[in-house]
Amino acid sequence: MLMPTSTVNRCMNSGQLCQNTTMTELIVCINLRPFAGQPSCAARGSRDLADYLEQAIACRKLDTKVQRVVCLGHCQRGPNVRIAGGFFIHEANTARLDALLDALETGDAFTDVP
Ligand code: FES
Repeated sequence: MLMPTSTVNRCMNSGQLCQNTTMTELIVCINLRPFAGQPSCAARGSRDLADYLEQAIACRKLDTKVQRVVCLGHCQRGPNVRIAGGFFIHEANTARLDALLDALETGDAFTDVP
């Protein structure tokens, strides 16, 4: 089951009415390793995938944010996306990210088939 991974305080306009909500963070490696023979997520399109995720999240109005980071330590298997505090999606592509967003949207279990 896909679970929200972080809790944030969300304050309303007045700043006086606050409530705890959960927000899922999707961590996308955007590292580019420019040296010959070194694979990297950016060289495999991760920056475009991060843009895609942000647009899809906005379109679906999900309480989810994208965090871009430099290297998740699985360079050979990129592009890599991680659910904060959770599992990785290696060799990410738009179809697999759509499946993840579907699961976030419906609350169903996310089943990833690489
Ligand atoms: S370059 Fe993406 S995990 Fe290292």
